[in-house]
Amino acid sequence: MSEWQKSNWRAKPRVQMPDYTDPDALAAVEGQLSNYPPLVFAGEARRLKQHLGAAGRGEAFLLQGGDCAEAFDQFSADAIRDTFKVMLQMAMVLTYGAKVPVVKVGRMAGQFAKPRSAPTEVVDGVELPSYRGDIINELAFTPEARIPDPRKMLQAYTQAAATLNLLRAFSTGGFADMTRLHAWTLGFADEQNVQKYSEIADRIQDAIDFMAAAGINSDTTHEISTVEFYTSHESLLLEYEEALTRLDSTSGNWLAGSGHMIWIGDRTRQPDGAHVEFCSGVLNPIGLKCGPTTTAEDLKVLMQKLNPENEEGRLTLIARFGAGKAGEHLPRLIKAVKEEGANVTWVCDPMHGNTIKSATGYKTRPFDSVLREVRDFFAVHQAEGTIPGGVHFEMTGQDVTECTGGVRAVTEEDLSDRYHTACDPRLNASQSLELAFLVAEELTNLRGSRKDRQAS
Ligand code: PEP
Ligand code: CO
Repeated sequence: MSEWQKSNWRAKPRVQMPDYTDPDALAAVEGQLSNYPPLVFAGEARRLKQHLGAAGRGEAFLLQGGDCAEAFDQFSADAIRDTFKVMLQMAMVLTYGAKVPVVKVGRMAGQFAKPRSAPTEVVDGVELPSYRGDIINELAFTPEARIPDPRKMLQAYTQAAATLNLLRAFSTGGFADMTRLHAWTLGFADEQNVQKYSEIADRIQDAIDFMAAAGINSDTTHEISTVEFYTSHESLLLEYEEALTRLDSTSGNWLAGSGHMIWIGDRTRQPDGAHVEFCSGVLNPIGLKCGPTTTAEDLKVLMQKLNPENEEGRLTLIARFGAGKAGEHLPRLIKAVKEEGANVTWVCDPMHGNTIKSATGYKTRPFDSVLREVRDFFAVHQAEGTIPGGVHFEMTGQDVTECTGGVRAVTEEDLSDRYHTACDPRLNASQSLELAFLVAEELTNLRGSRKDRQAS
């Protein structure tokens, strides 16, 4: 058994974490959270790890999505339901294209803490500490709002618990029953997506009718009536993560009890830093963001630290380079993985390398850049003979106007209409579904070329 302790990260250099000013208040919150129930169970994290291992082998495909930052004032059952519903629709479309199970993981029930590009923000000549997510401070631009308050961790925990409770209810309580797939279509505003989705839904309905005639239906078959839905977030606020870490009595290993999968961000992946240290010791599947500055040497050290047993599904590498840049960066990282003989699951985050400031002043992401990065990702893997294992999106089921483009063509002028994100711009429901269709096309082509190779 390793000597790892959940508090070891405290001795390592930390970045992107708040300096709490009231140590007693912080200690009280940590004490309280340490006595609360964990949000997830070790067996669930292990099962997700198996699914991610399958995605790494091309036998499954990961769909990971949700808010950039969950927010206290946007917490509602409808918002959770709508994002869950769009993810089910996207998963259906992707399953249809890939012909493999789609592993559904929300950026939900814990995605509260945000790394920032600058420690302070200046508005009209006034400089204040940056907003770091609702679990740390507040978005309002006042000195009081920007003071980190440890008690916000308790509110984040409560919101995460309630979110996860509803997701579990939706997953197993009948909402996600495959025979209702036409009902999920309702509420979509745009004709093109509705029609494409209905066509696929009709074909799946035929298959379901056929199986029902053969005696396989929601009553007999669990896989038809329920879905597995997992949660994930960036493991950034380590006081919160440590307080929710529990010893799994069945394996004797530590579980980050804050969510099923946790990831390390592009700004906190220092091989000798606090975040890598914390994640190295928990049994959960770990994501590692890989950006333009990730070197092959660092990646090798990180793979060794985060997955010394070379377990399948343990490490998901989330590539986020920006449209047109995967060709420059991804091959050297793939080479490092090959040289180490490492088991990893490659996933594409086409959001974080594609953020721009619009002429109207809003942070946005053009739909075409997002799509282009996905296509680059598939093309590089095709050329390298490696497996594109999934996608990672910032998205919502709400009809927001945060990213430009898509079939309903959100323009830069439209951005001010419904720009609600607390942090980065998200794909709206229609853009998310459209992207799923386009990713499904890539997956269909990939299957086609694999078959050709097998035949020749
Ligand atoms: C994020 O996923 O919200 C994020 C901040 O990503 P990255 O670390 O890749 O910039
Ligand atoms: Co983000």
